[in-house]
Amino acid sequence: MEFLDQIRSFPEQIMSRNFFHIDRDFNNIVISGMGGSGIVGRIFSELYGMCPVQVVSDYEIPHYVNAKTLFIAISYSGNTEETLATVKQAREKGAQIKVITSGGELSKLGYETVKVPSGMQPRNALGYMLSPLLNSLMKIEQSEIDGAHEVLQTIERESSKLKQMAEEICSVGLVPWIVGYEPYVSTAYRWKTQFNENGKILAINSTIPELNHNETMPLKLSYGRERFYFISLGNPSLERTGKRLRITSDLTGIKFNNVKEYGSTMLQKVLSMIHSGDYISYYVAKIRGLDPMDVSLIEELKSRLS
Ligand code: F6R
Repeated sequence: MEFLDQIRSFPEQIMSRNFFHIDRDFNNIVISGMGGSGIVGRIFSELYGMCPVQVVSDYEIPHYVNAKTLFIAISYSGNTEETLATVKQAREKGAQIKVITSGGELSKLGYETVKVPSGMQPRNALGYMLSPLLNSLMKIEQSEIDGAHEVLQTIERESSKLKQMAEEICSVGLVPWIVGYEPYVSTAYRWKTQFNENGKILAINSTIPELNHNETMPLKLSYGRERFYFISLGNPSLERTGKRLRITSDLTGIKFNNVKEYGSTMLQKVLSMIHSGDYISYYVAKIRGLDPMDVSLIEELKSRLS
């Protein structure tokens, strides 16, 4: 499938009805995954508030994991060594283990597995990998998902502003600096990684209110501040955070290029913002004459490690 078609399939992906069974009670959730698979856990953890959720993007799981942990391993390829290492540890600790993958080693371990369609870039399969989490752990009405599907279909039609932003970024080679806040903290990180993998440009993400306790000083006084392109995502859910954003802009002289959110529920807004990030990073690649699909250095690194 062409890269743009993979992006375009996102609205359909979130309609998938895959889910896993919860066999026994749990009091915390640990989600293990790297890169385009790990981001699924981060997005979910910001939407879900029923118990602590920790996302592990490394080789080791936390000490507290035990039989009362719901451990979800997500790896699109099913062959990511960090994720496979964590599953082994979770098994030793007696955790309840579930798997989301398109195949590979992870699909052969005998755990309840949600199989997602293969042949895509992991980062473009976010909807397929997020759906089982939403369906199994959050009581989301079908009408909300239908609404999200509709909202997501409008993003491409309205993407001329995103294209223009991509042009502004590329025209003098700026580094995007994405400012997130609830409910877009993980989404800001997703944007950063999409600029990295699709656009092949460096990017930074940070968060309000934390930014007001450190980065606010260099935003006004650092050398090189003119090399960044500041992006703020939608409207903060807290009125206080919006006020912080405005005052930060006043004090530092930084202009935040705001990206509009779509939808009426938090889930819809978050999904819409994720999808806008997919398009803008795609446009960056195209403007630079690069292939958004290409992750050859990442693949080369994986093969040299094996
Ligand atoms: C590639 C991508 C990467 C991978 C990561 C982990 O599109 O997004 O960030 O997701 O290298 O691989 P998987 O997802 O196969 O576990």
